[in-house]
Amino acid sequence: MQSSSQNIIIRKPDDWHLHLRTGTILKKVLKYTSSTFGRAIIMPNLDPPVLTTNQAWTYFQHISELVPKTHNFKPLMTLFLTEQSDILDIREGVKKGIVTAVKLYPAGSTTNSSNGVRDISRIYSLLEKISLLNIPLLIHGEATDPKIDVFDREAFFIENTLAPLRKKIPELRIVLEHITTKEGVDFILESDRNLAATITPHHLIINRSSMFLNGIRPHYYCLPLAKREVHRLALVNAAISGNPRFFLGTDSAPHLDNFKENACGCAGIFSAPNALKCLAHIFEKNAALDKLEGFVSLNGAKYYGLPANSSYTRLSKVIKPEEELKSISIGKNKITVFDPGFSLLWKHENALDFKK
Ligand code: DOR
Ligand code: ZN
Repeated sequence: MQSSSQNIIIRKPDDWHLHLRTGTILKKVLKYTSSTFGRAIIMPNLDPPVLTTNQAWTYFQHISELVPKTHNFKPLMTLFLTEQSDILDIREGVKKGIVTAVKLYPAGSTTNSSNGVRDISRIYSLLEKISLLNIPLLIHGEATDPKIDVFDREAFFIENTLAPLRKKIPELRIVLEHITTKEGVDFILESDRNLAATITPHHLIINRSSMFLNGIRPHYYCLPLAKREVHRLALVNAAISGNPRFFLGTDSAPHLDNFKENACGCAGIFSAPNALKCLAHIFEKNAALDKLEGFVSLNGAKYYGLPANSSYTRLSKVIKPEEELKSISIGKNKITVFDPGFSLLWKHENALDFKK
């Protein structure tokens, strides 16, 4: 990384957790990611989900055709695990370079996850075989038992599902996705290998009170839910620590506003347009701009066993904030962009020739 206080040049970042959807939404949201990131892990929770290598390949081609010609972006595909997933198909997908990772959603944990796994012990033998393929298992780490308080579901999952899984199959390379708790951070820190976590920009910025500030704020509703301030601080410390097992996954998850501003609103925060600007702000505020490159551009690639991007991104700080994009229109509807609650003073641009 090269830097002056107002200007830093980093390797081009990647997003290790992204929802792109399909149809018009995909067409509208893709450019915000493909203009900023070199690669992104594409989540498979479509309706119907991406279950097979064939489906992942079709989705990959569809996304790739829509990437603007001037952008250099590669979608990295994942498969949605079920109790019926076929190891032969997964192996084929990995061998052909189509499948980068598999995603475990506990059934009912989040958007379009009803086909997920009900009892993880039923897929232990599948997971053992997956561990031999040397691809990561990405986990939505929340218990789904309605008796467990929604704010406790991550900690409960770690203790009762993830810890036993790690004991049973220590060779399985895991990414605990979008961690939101101190327990999540500590669990990563206590493990010696084969475990990493993504952290979203929004969980570094909002806490659970943000959802209820002077009224209910549906655009801050996501899963896992933001937790107490003490947890947000633990996440910030993890992100800026330089520990290579924490890296960016935006979990940018677009939903039409009428499905969020609803008596039963959907979970998801659309942050693709301003994720990197928000992160530069947070890292600067914590005197950790020198750790930003690791978090957004190096740690994730290393954990996935991939090289860092060969091009660079320049971030520069402006004195006056520019007009921010508040929402994007989709026909008569719109999708609200994440509001961090502060002015964004960092801009970024990509270039091949910003050599170190
Ligand atoms: O808030 C979320 N939205 N969390 C998830 O895990 C899924 C995502 C979505 O797909 O909408
Ligand atoms: Zn997600």
